[in-house]
Formats: sequence, structure tokens, C-alpha cells
Amino acid sequence: MQIFVTGGAGFIGSAYVRAVLKDEFAGAVGAKVTVLDLLSYSGNLANLPMTDSRLRFVQGDITDAALLRDLLPGHDAVVHFAAESHVDRSISGAVPFVTTNVLGTQILLDAAREAGVGRFLHVSTDEVYGSISEGSWTETWPLDPNSPYAASKASSDLLALAAHRTHGMDVVVTRCSNNYGTHQFPEKVIPLFVSNLLDGKQVPLYGDGGNIRDWLHVTDHVRGIQLALDKGRAGEVYNIGGGTELSNRELTGMLLDACGAGWDMVRPVEDRKGHDRRYSLDITKISKELGYTPQVTLEQGLADTVTWYRENRAWWEPLKARAGL
Ligand SMILES: NC(=O)c1ccc[n+]([C@@H]2O[C@H](COP(=O)([O-])OP(=O)(O)OC[C@H]3O[C@@H](n4cnc5c(N)ncnc54)[C@H](O)[C@@H]3O)[C@@H](O)[C@H]2O)c1
Repeated sequence: MQIFVTGGAGFIGSAYVRAVLKDEFAGAVGAKVTVLDLLSYSGNLANLPMTDSRLRFVQGDITDAALLRDLLPGHDAVVHFAAESHVDRSISGAVPFVTTNVLGTQILLDAAREAGVGRFLHVSTDEVYGSISEGSWTETWPLDPNSPYAASKASSDLLALAAHRTHGMDVVVTRCSNNYGTHQFPEKVIPLFVSNLLDGKQVPLYGDGGNIRDWLHVTDHVRGIQLALDKGRAGEVYNIGGGTELSNRELTGMLLDACGAGWDMVRPVEDRKGHDRRYSLDITKISKELGYTPQVTLEQGLADTVTWYRENRAWWEPLKARAGL
């Protein structure tokens, strides 16, 4: 089996690639992996086992149709992670989000179809649903994105599903909640807060801290992706959540405890523009159809994550310095 992974040098893509190459998925034992990644600010070769003979890494852009035509033939599946992924960056400049997330996804879909690649798994986000005050989103919930990031992901979901309906492509879409774990670029809340606290620096908490997110350990996410790749039905969407809703204030309290710091290390900052209040995913479909259950508890996952950042300063210090974080 040959799997083509876009964005495989990023946080979640690299977790997926490492798991495949460690033969953690019964459906992909011995699989070879091609990673196509632009190595934008969040892509990092240190996330990948570069000497593994089953891994081929290509630095390149998913909007490069000629490169895709060259690379894609012979692959059995595409798992598409590549994206501009940070909401705050989309608020200050949305064009790269449209270019990579929307245009790039369409170019990749076309190239995969022309190359006769088997299944195309499009990795998306719960943010496409908007914000929900009560209850949880099922996969049929209307898309109502608020940030430019979420709008670009919603657009790409629709393009992926349209490729199935129009051309009969074997497309599956997954929508996950907020991921956390090792190797996450330190602009995102958990690695930002942990690395700041380890350095004795304050952490910026948006608004009243009451925004609620469902937290999903990245290893649970990539297991869910592989289940959808192996057994999901073509043309379907599967939510992947962690089943752990927390306000940002509650999350901050857990991170302060884990790092041995107090509330004096928290600096309230002006709320993010258009900040979604609450995300909540209903994961009944993937649980019943594909047998998915999250396995990593938030307590264990956060403890392991804090330990990893404590022990891997050499990974994150240069990234923070370069990004001015
Ligand atoms: N992190 C989360 O909590 C989360 C939640 C829901 C969905 N997602 C989705 O999961 C996917 C991966 O997210 P992540 O957190 O790993 O992001 P990330 O920013 O860590 O990784 C993105 C990767 O894509 C690469 N990339 C960017 N533009 C590219 C281009 N034009 N061509 C090729 N490669 C390009 C980057 O170099 C990077 O390696 C994204 O599609 C994102 O929308 C993430």
C-alpha cells in the first residue's frame, strides 16, 4: 500500500505518518508513505523519521498541479492534511487560507482523480459548523463558519464532497475537534501556554476565558482518520471528537497546575474577533459505524504533553524565537 500524505511535516500529519511507519494501524502494515509538504512556518522535518526507508519526503506545494501529476500515480490513497491552520493568522490575512485550503484542495482533488488514486480522505474541522450554545453537532448540521479559516475549510469540504457527487470519486471527509499532543507548533494555546510557563512567562487568556472547546488527543485523531480511511463510506462525513469539553479558563487552570504555576501568570487579553463560544461534536456516527472511541484521557494526555514540552526544548525554542512568540 502506498499512501500520499499532504502536510505530513505538520502537527497532525506527522503524527499520522509516524503511526503508519510504526505499523500501528492494522489496515496499513508495511505501507509506504509519500509526504508532500511545503515546509511553511509550521512544517518541520524534525517531526518525521526522515531515515525510514518507507518514507519519501518531497518539499512542494499542493497548488503545483505539474508536481502532483508527477508524484501521485501509483498511490492507493491520499490523506490530505495540508492547510493554513491558525485562526488568528486568518483574521490578519485570509488570502493564503483561500489559496492553500480552497484552491489547493481543488487542485489536489483534480490531480488525484486524473492519477486514478483510490480513496481521498480530506481532514477537516468542527469549526465549519460555527458555534453551538447547547447540544452537539451531527454531520448533517448546516455549515455556518465564522472565521476566514473555518470558511476556507468549509469550502474545501464542499469541494471534496462535490468531487464525489460529480465525478464519483471515493472521498471521505473527517471533522475533528481541537487537537493537542506532542509536536504542535507553539502558537496554539496548549503548547504556547506550556512553553511560556516553563520559561516563567505569563500566558495570554482571551476575553473572559469562557469559550468552550472539545479536546482530542492527536493519537486518537489519527486512529479515527485511519478507521475512516479503511472502513468509512464514500461520500460520507465523520466527526472525530475527544469527548472532553472544557472552558479555556478550566484548561488554563489544568496547565497552570501541571507546570506548577499560579493565576498570577495569566494575563487577560482582548477577545479574538468573532470568537466562537462553544464547539461540541456528536461522535455517534463514527463510534457506531467504525468502532471509534477516544482512548487518551485528558488528564493523561495533558500530563504527557507537558512532559514532552519540558523534555524537548530543543524542538520548540527555535520555533518560538523565529515566530517572535
Ligand atoms: N490542530 C487542530 O486542532 C486541528 C483541528 C481540526 C482540524 N485540523 C486540520 O488538520 C490539518 C492539519 O492541521 P495541523 O494542526 O497539523 O496544522 P499544521 O499547521 O501543524 O500543519 C500544516 C502542514 O501543512 C503544510 N502546508 C501548508 N501549506 C501547504 C501547501 N500549500 N502545500 C503543501 N503543504 C502545505 C505545512 O508546511 C505544515 O506542515 C489541517 O487541515 C487543519 O485544518 C486541525
